[in-house]
Amino acid sequence: ENDILSKLPLKGKKFLITAGPTYEAIDPVRFIGNHSSGKMGYAIAEIAASLGAEVVLISGPTALKLENDFVKIIHVTSAEEMYNAAQEYFDKCNMAILSAAVADYRPSEVASEKIKKKTDDLTLQLTKTKDILASLGEIKEDQFLVGFALETENEEENAKLKLKKKNLDLIVLNSLRDKGAGFQTDTNKITLITKDNKVLPFPVKPKKEVAKDILEYIIEQTNA
Ligand code: CTP
Ligand code: CA
Repeated sequence: ENDILSKLPLKGKKFLITAGPTYEAIDPVRFIGNHSSGKMGYAIAEIAASLGAEVVLISGPTALKLENDFVKIIHVTSAEEMYNAAQEYFDKCNMAILSAAVADYRPSEVASEKIKKKTDDLTLQLTKTKDILASLGEIKEDQFLVGFALETENEEENAKLKLKKKNLDLIVLNSLRDKGAGFQTDTNKITLITKDNKVLPFPVKPKKEVAKDILEYIIEQTNA
């Protein structure tokens, strides 16, 4: 009798999603960043919204445009800004998927003027950023918390450690070793690792299809 609603399995669910890289300022014209395109997180946001979810997407700097008007987007630049936005929205959400490639370190001091070229060597001192995902794992109540793991060695083992350490319900292991997987591509190859250590590998697929696989698993697990 409720066929219309059954097509929107995420109706009434609030999602918090992070995507893209962060930029950590060195001086007014330079930053430390990474090659994340944001495509994976944007795909998850679009598909979740199309399944009825209310989505807040916290996005680092990307060239992407959202296709779905029902996604609320919050633009941030640095890890610190992303942390603050995530903290603000987390207690109102049911599911959080943190796909952003957050910088692990930022320059300890930001030069107020453009750094001039002088010495042959220049040393930058870096300070660890706050781990957004771990911070949400610490304050988690009944939210379903999903992280990503990018590994180049001991992939499954490292992903399982991250899942446990950050108090996650699910971790999406992204392997850079596979062809057609990773940062600037339109396809991805993932392995889902669950809280009870189930390992579910998926083939290389377009990122939109990967997003569906991840959301399908979350819907199953949460009976959404
Ligand atoms: N993450 C985060 N905040 C950070 C660093 C990472 O929220 N400051 C999140 C990422 O969005 C991802 C997960 O943590 O969901 C794992 O990121 P990853 O870089 O694979 O792991 P790290 O814990 O940063 O450890 P390392 O880079 O040393 O492997
Ligand atoms: Ca990292």
